Amino acid sequence: MGWRYSLSSLVLCASPLLVQGQSDALGLSNGYTKLKTSNFDFQLVADAQILASLKPTGSDFDFLPSDYLSYRAANGQYHIGDITYRYRTTDQKEWTAGDSSQDRAAVRSLENDALAAADMGPTLPSGSSLKVVREWIEVDGDLGLSFTLTNQGNSTIELGSLGFPIESNSIFTNRTADEVTAQCSLLDPYIGLDAGYLQLTPTSGTGPALIITPLANTSTPLEAWRNLEEPSDQYTGYGSQTFEGFYEWQVHSKAYAEKEWTDVTPWNEPTAQVLKPGEKSTVGLRFSVVSEGVRGIQKAVQDTDTPLTVGNGYIVPRDLTVQLFVLHSAKVSKIVSENNAFEVTQATENSYTLAPTGSVWGRTTVTISYADGKTQAVHYFITDSAPNAIAKLGHFSTTTMWFDDEQDPFGRAPSVITYDHSTKGHVLQEARVWIAGLSDEGGTVYLASAMKEHGLPDETEVAKLEEFASKVLFGTVQNEDFTVRKSAFFYDPDEAPEYSYDSSIDWGNWWSWNKADSYSTSRAYDYIHVIGVYWSLYRAGRDNPSLLKVHPWQWYLGQAYNTTVTGFATDSAGNGIIGYSRLGLMGETVVGELLTDLQREGWTDEADAVEAAMKLRADAWDSQPEPFGSEMAWDCTGQEGVYYWSNYFNLTETSTKTVNSILGLMPTVSHWGWNGNARRYWDFIYGGKLQRIERMIHHYGSSLNALPLLAEFRQNPTDAYLLRVGYGGITGPLSNIREDGSMYNAFHSFPDTLRGDDYSGDYGSGFLGLILGSGTYVVEDPDMGLVAYGGNLAVDGDTVTVQPRDAIRRRVFVASMGVYVSTSAGQIEEVSFSKTDPDSLQLQVTADVGSIIVWVEAPGTKDLYTVTAEGKEKRGGVEVQLTNGSAIVTVARS
Ligand SMILES: *[C@@H]1O[C@H](CO)[C@@H](O)[C@H](O)[C@H]1NC(C)=O
Ligand SMILES: *[C@@H]1O[C@H](CO)[C@@H](O)[C@H](O)[C@H]1NC(C)=O
Ligand SMILES: *[C@@H]1O[C@H](CO)[C@@H](O)[C@H](O)[C@H]1NC(C)=O
Ligand SMILES: *[C@@H]1O[C@H](CO)[C@@H](O)[C@H](O)[C@H]1NC(C)=O
Ligand SMILES: *[C@@H]1O[C@H](CO)[C@@H](O)[C@H](O)[C@H]1NC(C)=O
Ligand SMILES: *[C@@H]1O[C@H](CO)[C@@H](O)[C@H](O)[C@H]1NC(C)=O
Repeated sequence: MGWRYSLSSLVLCASPLLVQGQSDALGLSNGYTKLKTSNFDFQLVADAQILASLKPTGSDFDFLPSDYLSYRAANGQYHIGDITYRYRTTDQKEWTAGDSSQDRAAVRSLENDALAAADMGPTLPSGSSLKVVREWIEVDGDLGLSFTLTNQGNSTIELGSLGFPIESNSIFTNRTADEVTAQCSLLDPYIGLDAGYLQLTPTSGTGPALIITPLANTSTPLEAWRNLEEPSDQYTGYGSQTFEGFYEWQVHSKAYAEKEWTDVTPWNEPTAQVLKPGEKSTVGLRFSVVSEGVRGIQKAVQDTDTPLTVGNGYIVPRDLTVQLFVLHSAKVSKIVSENNAFEVTQATENSYTLAPTGSVWGRTTVTISYADGKTQAVHYFITDSAPNAIAKLGHFSTTTMWFDDEQDPFGRAPSVITYDHSTKGHVLQEARVWIAGLSDEGGTVYLASAMKEHGLPDETEVAKLEEFASKVLFGTVQNEDFTVRKSAFFYDPDEAPEYSYDSSIDWGNWWSWNKADSYSTSRAYDYIHVIGVYWSLYRAGRDNPSLLKVHPWQWYLGQAYNTTVTGFATDSAGNGIIGYSRLGLMGETVVGELLTDLQREGWTDEADAVEAAMKLRADAWDSQPEPFGSEMAWDCTGQEGVYYWSNYFNLTETSTKTVNSILGLMPTVSHWGWNGNARRYWDFIYGGKLQRIERMIHHYGSSLNALPLLAEFRQNPTDAYLLRVGYGGITGPLSNIREDGSMYNAFHSFPDTLRGDDYSGDYGSGFLGLILGSGTYVVEDPDMGLVAYGGNLAVDGDTVTVQPRDAIRRRVFVASMGVYVSTSAGQIEEVSFSKTDPDSLQLQVTADVGSIIVWVEAPGTKDLYTVTAEGKEKRGGVEVQLTNGSAIVTVARS
């Protein structure tokens, strides 16, 4: 038991901050109630008994925005402890709603065994059939919150919605970057029914985390995660770039599914509960501290006796078999794959293999029933085999999306231009001019087409992209001095008198730039897309010598180089000339690839120039407490570049800080949509068709932030947590490719939508991450044992064989050796090694070129490994000749 105070002896503290003119419906002026459990110090608002502050015992870190409470004290602003519901009697069609936040009144406190208890009647609609008693209790040292609902009417009711709003300190408004990192935390859900939980991780990624799980001995499934509307307030900016807004844990969602969410396939089957007159039901949540921090979350969930599963991937290409490990005290009584999407086979006492049957493409659920009566939903997304998915994207984007009207006054043809899936047409005019202007991120889907040619080159597609690169990229998007425009399209009737601008579009907003603004070259982010196109075409041609017809590979490498030094140039005082060039930029890992290739090609002067330009930035970041700046007040776009160069220059403190920051914003859960999903919630405004502040599922942050995690894992191959998150992120962009090969920027997570956006938007950057980071990872996982991520693994005696099933099949990392092998072209068909005494790897490779280069790195060991075959050293690796399109390559400790 923890500390208990009786309500009568409470110390009421004076409200620290009451804002002039701001409503105090919560009753802050009447003070707070300070309470404790063994693991928490917490405060309730005395009148409302909602949670005002929640700190791990003895800590100053508050998981709630208690400092902003006075801005959040009006009716309609949600807090933990609130309840929302909808019910109807069996003869009614319409639902009757209740919501404790809407018309606040002090609750009627009750004396019982709880730390605090109240009848919520006064703050709920009068005449409600539901009586709600709320208790704050201690549960094994943790904090519990329970609601006992009683049908106090005379008719049987159907409870069609029941939700618990969850507040968190994810309000960045009016906080400095340092304050955000020190004070805020980030909330992510696992919408997994009785196994559902919420995790709050400190923004720094270090220090204790918080989990919220179903209260023991109640049935409180996380069935849906509903976004909450709040009145706009001038202080914190609910639902803005600095304040995503809040959601509620929904136990029942049928009333919404019938009304606001029709035509949507929900994550879980919407349910309702029937309560007869006088019947009672208790539901609730448990709050637990995870002192170990983010890496301890899954274990902490398990410790609350909430079922936990761990798997090696939830976005599953058709030709991949995945594993699912069940970590729960009760036995599995049944495991069912919806629509027979997977053939499920029990592999060990607590693990299952899931092999796609081919019957389903897209979202699908595996439902586990446990002997203790609990039910868990594991959410998967089945895609085409990854090479097929990217092949379709390559084809679709260079045919259906190919824009070839050479009369276009903006010089945009030929190109791959933004596509609208709902109209099945090109987006040639858009108020946000960059979307139709081949720039910013929202208009650069051609970056995906180009990156695809490095991963899986196709002659016809390369021919078209060469034409694009030499006629449009260089000439329209980019000036001859290598500066890059913010948009090729503009709204400027004076400058385009012959052009008929669509009068149904509102051209009156700031984003309808005129010609001068569109042709500004001051945004460093835009340079990366251009560098990416050139670099990928260089590699496609360099590794497959017959492909390039317009320019030799040297031209592409030179263009990539010149664009880089232009984008990152500094004046004599060392200040960046191009705006934002001192920040980490989305996709700039490709500059690292470029530098590596300049070094491999022996272009020493160029390599030195790029390295020097990057060192200036890395040194600057190393001196900053918060080097993750961006165009936005808070963001997760800087981390990728900051990690790349800090790691490159051995600035370990900064690279470690960066990895922590990423782990703070990327969860791992048994749901494809949130596993490795980097927190992003405003880019539908800039790149989407449906524009709103909304958590995005697998926007480009997923794959781009996965790159550092995978690189860090290769250097620390026993830290399997990095791989769980990183692999989730790197496979994210596969789920954004539709069956026809079209693609979208991100998936809308609000429960009234649950589908990909109609615009191809800024998908190019996410796809770049997929191409640069896809690989197969073999690891001894503490919970799962020997598993492959992105490959089919088999063990025969002492021999482990793995067949890569990732998107490009040219990179394999074997954690037990710490060895990373990559090849220049073709595909690795199979890799094998000894399970007990791993000191060499055999790779079976195929390619339709005469020779490939094999690169061996051993970042996870002090041992040296090399290719044993006879072969010329070339481009930093070993050239291996293929016979009839295949070869066996051995990599061994030397
Ligand atoms: C329930 O029934 C009682 C007795 O018939 C009646 O007095 C009361 O008004 C009814 N309550 C409601 C909510 O209909
Ligand atoms: C749940 O119920 C069991 C059996 O009645 C009891 O032993 C246990 O303490 C309860 N757990 C909690 C957290 O209330
Ligand atoms: C914003 O921050 C400034 C400086 O710390 C402070 O003076 C001001 O009161 C804050 N405003 C709000 C709305 O919190
Ligand atoms: C960079 O551009 C300059 C000017 O066009 C050119 O002379 C030079 O050769 C280019 N560098 C490379 C490496 O292509
Ligand atoms: C970083 O450290 C590694 C290992 O000591 C070394 O090989 C490498 O050259 C260093 N990199 C730089 C840029 O100094
Ligand atoms: C290569 O393929 C040809 C035709 O299938 C076959 O005749 C030849 O023996 C093969 N060579 C080797 C070395 O396998």
